Amino acid sequence: MKTVHCSILGFGAIGQGVAEVLLMKKGYLKSIGLEVLVIAVVDSKGATVNPAGVDLADCLARKRTKGTVAIEKLTGVEIIRTVPHELVIETTPTNIVTGGAGLQNMLAAFETGKDIITSNKGPLTLKYRELMEVAKAAGSNFRFEAAVGGSMPVINLANEVLAGNRLRSIKGILNGTCNYILTRMLEERASYKDILAESMELGIAETDPTYDVEGIDTACKLVILANAIFGLDVTYKDVEVTGITKIAPEALEMAYESGHVIKLIGEVSRERIHVAPRLVPINHPLAVGGTLNVASIDTELAGEITVTGRGAGPIETASAILSDLVAIYGNR
Ligand code: HSE
Repeated sequence: MKTVHCSILGFGAIGQGVAEVLLMKKGYLKSIGLEVLVIAVVDSKGATVNPAGVDLADCLARKRTKGTVAIEKLTGVEIIRTVPHELVIETTPTNIVTGGAGLQNMLAAFETGKDIITSNKGPLTLKYRELMEVAKAAGSNFRFEAAVGGSMPVINLANEVLAGNRLRSIKGILNGTCNYILTRMLEERASYKDILAESMELGIAETDPTYDVEGIDTACKLVILANAIFGLDVTYKDVEVTGITKIAPEALEMAYESGHVIKLIGEVSRERIHVAPRLVPINHPLAVGGTLNVASIDTELAGEITVTGRGAGPIETASAILSDLVAIYGNR
């Protein structure tokens, strides 16, 4: 049995999802020869630390009742530098302006030779090349399937399952909030403003939905795909971005009458990276509704391969983190 000592940095919805999935999957992990021992859980107020293993159920209960897991006033970087472990699960909030705590955590983790699994788009969007170089120099594993499309496999699908294929492009819906808004505007013949309000009430859109509806979230995900799959060296400024805020319900209706839906489509190829509302034929594989994400990979040997799945949600996102963990340490 191999014991993986890990920290969970960031204990919002996704960090809590990871804790739940680790509890749920203890038996499965044991069956492939793995024990995952969480030595620290950190949120924005502090940390719970126990080098012999923290009680995840207790952390979840305390977060729900007290709003924090903090027992000691320690940050992620301090835990990385002082408590021995080999894996950092980095689930702090995305900050695409400075990289936020996530960037500091990642640099400190690589400095101390740790592996990282993350759902955090910020550092990957801003400093992909630099982080890869530091990870390589440290001999660290660095995996981030959860950063693009939540549970929907796209990075590992393209780089591992489809290994050997030259990929021409990836296009699809990479933001569930925009998909929900466009789907509901058509269903209800309602305005963008009304459905945005509905999606905020339901907790689908973020508290500040700007990143979603202006196409910024989709653009960040394309930057990650461009760097990680197409081997490009790009950042956010290399993406042409148009969001969904100016789409009128009449436009959605007219499109529907001609057999199309309007979707916010992100597309990456070696030539161009862009996000814009586009017409998609109603029966096309990209015409998925609700909050779903979808990605279609144009491959040299196998034609188009399309996957769809839930692009957000704590357990769904933790599903991608679990698969990265098994990919690094598992012996399937
Ligand atoms: N807010 C995103 C979405 C999920 O609506 O798809 C996180 O990337």
